[in-house]
Amino acid sequence: MSKIQPAVAYTPVAKFFHWGMALLWIVAWALGFTAAHGGKALNPDFVLTFLHKSVASTIVFLTVFRLFWRFGHSPPALPATMSPLTQLFAHFGHLLLYAVALIALPISGWLLSSFAGKPILLAGFIHLPLLTEPDKALVATARLVHNYTAWFCGLMVLGHILAALKHHFIDRDDILMRMKWR
Ligand code: HEM
Ligand code: HEM
Repeated sequence: MSKIQPAVAYTPVAKFFHWGMALLWIVAWALGFTAAHGGKALNPDFVLTFLHKSVASTIVFLTVFRLFWRFGHSPPALPATMSPLTQLFAHFGHLLLYAVALIALPISGWLLSSFAGKPILLAGFIHLPLLTEPDKALVATARLVHNYTAWFCGLMVLGHILAALKHHFIDRDDILMRMKWR
């Protein structure tokens, strides 16, 4: 058991949003990657593409609720052991995670399926309206944007996880513990 005890912690609602959506996000990323690169053997009849879109589209809606909630609830202040510059960097990193990983990436996927004229079933059973008229000429560009954004976000999330581990094991502060589930 860790000896580090947080002086202040995220609220249960913040933890629920963070860990629930982190799980969905990582599963969606792995499904998208396997769907795109696994070939017919791993993605027969586009089953994984269907699953990818079903899981990933739930993130769009959860993000709306999370943002509404977040605007009314500030996170605990960062520890004074972090320099002002590091604190600024941490805030900017979180802002980028919200803006790119939780908003822009799902919307780019939604646009990709819209241009391709392919349905998206939220959580596997609710049809989402397509954002545009189908336009085959734009599918390749939309796919490129979605793929590059997905890779950028994958690296960003990896950096986020490594930063949390560095805080815990090297800096030995309470950053990870204040987001601890229980
Ligand atoms: C409404 C939301 C989304 C839709 C409709 C969507 C749709 C798609 C589609 C159609 C593909 C191509 C799959 C294939 O070629 O079989 C794809 C690829 C991918 N998506 Fe999404 N996506 C969405 C959100 C997301 C999110 C939130 C993530 C990350 C968590 C993500 C990560 C990926 C990755 C990693 C790939 C593979 C990229 C590559 O080719 O290397 N997508 N997505
Ligand atoms: C094993 C995976 C993960 C770990 C260990 C982790 C760890 C953490 C920790 C410790 C914090 C609190 C930082 C602080 O106190 O300032 C945090 C915040 C945050 N994380 Fe993660 N995280 C993970 C996955 C993810 C994923 C996949 C996403 C989304 C793509 C994400 C998005 C965020 C956001 C947006 C915040 C800021 C929350 C706020 O203050 O409103 N995290 N994470």
